[in-house]
Amino acid sequence: MFRIAVIPGDGIGPEVIGEGLKVLRTLEETDSLKLDTMQLDIGASRYLQTGKTLTDEDLDILGKQNAIYFGAVGDPRVKPGILERGIILSMRSHFDQYINLRPVRSWGNLGRLKLTKPFNIVFFRENTEDFYLGAGGVISKKNQEIPIAIERSLYRLDLNLTAFYTGDDDFAFEIGILSRRGVRRFAEYAANYAKAQGQTKITVVDKANVCTSLYGLWREVFSSVAEENGIDIDYVYVDAMSQALIRNPEKFHVVATPNMFGDILTDLGAEIQGSLGLAASGNINPKGVSMFEPVHGSAPDIAGRGIANPIGAILAAKLMLEHLGCREIARRVEEAVEQTIEKGIVTPDLGGRSTTKEVGDAIVDYLVKH
Ligand code: NAD
Ligand code: IPM
Ligand code: MN
Repeated sequence: MFRIAVIPGDGIGPEVIGEGLKVLRTLEETDSLKLDTMQLDIGASRYLQTGKTLTDEDLDILGKQNAIYFGAVGDPRVKPGILERGIILSMRSHFDQYINLRPVRSWGNLGRLKLTKPFNIVFFRENTEDFYLGAGGVISKKNQEIPIAIERSLYRLDLNLTAFYTGDDDFAFEIGILSRRGVRRFAEYAANYAKAQGQTKITVVDKANVCTSLYGLWREVFSSVAEENGIDIDYVYVDAMSQALIRNPEKFHVVATPNMFGDILTDLGAEIQGSLGLAASGNINPKGVSMFEPVHGSAPDIAGRGIANPIGAILAAKLMLEHLGCREIARRVEEAVEQTIEKGIVTPDLGGRSTTKEVGDAIVDYLVKH
């Protein structure tokens, strides 16, 4: 029996998580799966009513689960950052989910690119540091002390910024930081994964030609971890990587990225497979509570119309099952998704006419019959 907290969230979140839950319920009947799910009302509407994003009580409940199944948050009525930082980023850092696993693969020839070869890429996105620390501010007085406190599971870092200037301007900043231990544990995870898959190389993305300090440390650590593990590294700058992913996605297998570039490249990766609506992710702490969610957001532009692609959310459930050790059941989910896409039962983002519910039903139907 696995205890799962479900947070549908905002916009299309509840629509796609509804289909994911339908698939999980089916697997409880067809396969040897037992789940104890509880739904949490976290997101924009609760925030607008109570002013709360993630409470201590929420964290307490979430901390007692085997995994978290999350939809999306974000609402046009709420200032950007409040829900995203207050909920998603808070969970990632509170539970120290330092790996963001984001696999992308081809599903035949879906989407706008003419793929000449199939591809299968596993992105590992560093998930708690880089430019996602929340270490920012605006300097607007000519002489100012700005204390910056960064709390992570690995450390507490206090920075004191002293600003002094003579001109007349405001200065906004957002500091990117990587810790040696933070990069090391992330690099080791990616290296171990690559080895377990029989891969001899990892592609490591950065911008070490510009952010020389930040990604200089990143490279230093990656190079030693690679040497210790007997694997090769191909360093690729993020600009060239976005070009190469479109031109030759089949050349990449295990790709490790810093937090922010990984955010961007995985939307791109998701689209190469056909649609952002297909991509899933796992926010993983190998020894703690991990969270599984589609890569996409709350998509307010299509919310409430019943046309959101539920496959990203269903594959997030699949990643969660894999993480919980139910590998065969997870494999069946991927097969059911493959077969449903193959039959052309897809939502409008993939050029189809099916609704969110029809895609979910088709996946369920396959699981029941096979
Ligand atoms: P988005 O991912 O929500 O949408 C981008 C585009 O992709 C939109 O045109 C949308 O309609 C389309 N799309 C996304 N998911 C789809 C699906 N399942 N099926 C079909 N089409 C889909 O990104 P955005 O518009 O930049 O962000 C909207 C809100 O979501 C913002 O508040 C943002 O901060 C938030 N967000 C949250 C998460 C998360 O909860 N993990 C992730 C990304 C963005
Ligand atoms: C994602 C999202 C989040 C991120 C935002 C909403 C905080 O874009 O999960 O990809 O940037 O990590
Ligand atoms: Mn993103």
